[in-house]
Amino acid sequence: MAVGAQLAAQLVPGTVIWLEGDLGAGKTTLVRGLLRAAGETGAVKSPTYTLVELHAVSGLNFYHFDFYRFNAPEEYLDAGLDEYFTEDAICLVEWPDKAAPYLPPADLRIALSVVDAGRSIELVAGSEKGRTCLAGVRSSSLPPPA
Ligand SMILES: Nc1ncnc2c1ncn2[C@@H]1O[C@H](COP(=O)(O)OP(=O)(O)O)[C@@H](O)[C@H]1O
Ligand SMILES: [Mg+2]
Repeated sequence: MAVGAQLAAQLVPGTVIWLEGDLGAGKTTLVRGLLRAAGETGAVKSPTYTLVELHAVSGLNFYHFDFYRFNAPEEYLDAGLDEYFTEDAICLVEWPDKAAPYLPPADLRIALSVVDAGRSIELVAGSEKGRTCLAGVRSSSLPPPA
C-alpha cells in the first residue's frame, strides 16, 4: 500500500506499468494503495473476471487489468483491450506475460514475491518516463542522513 502511494505521486498520463509475481504476491494490493493515494474512495476490486476496471480520479484515467484467465494472448486483441493503451491513460497490468507479445512495452516493471510474512519488491524502469518516475520515488523516500 505504501509503495503504491509513493508511485501514485509520480505518475503521468501515458504510463504503462506491469505487475509481475505469483498469485497472492500482492499485485492487486499495490494497485489498491496506488489508487487510494490517487484519490479513489470507492472499492478497488481485482479485475480477474472483468479483465479491466476503470478508476477516473484526480483528472486521470487509471485502467487496471488482470490477464490471469487468458488461455491465449490473442484474447487481448479479441477483447479490444489494446484500445485502452492511449497517451491519456495510466495502465496497470497484472499478468502481462499472458498478453505478450501484443501488450505495449512497460515504462515500469514491478516484480513482487513472497518473503516470509512480507513481500520483496523490485522496480525496473523500461523507458525515460519510467526512469523519471523511479527517480521521483527515490528522492521522496530517501532515509535521513545518518
Ligand atoms: N506486502 C504485503 N505483506 C503482507 N501481505 C500482503 C502484502 N501484499 C498483499 N498481501 C496479502 O496477500 C494476499 C494476496 O494479495 P493480492 O494483492 O490479492 O495478490 P495478487 O494480486 O498478486 O494475486 C492478500 O490477502 C493481501 O492482503
Ligand atoms: Mg491480483
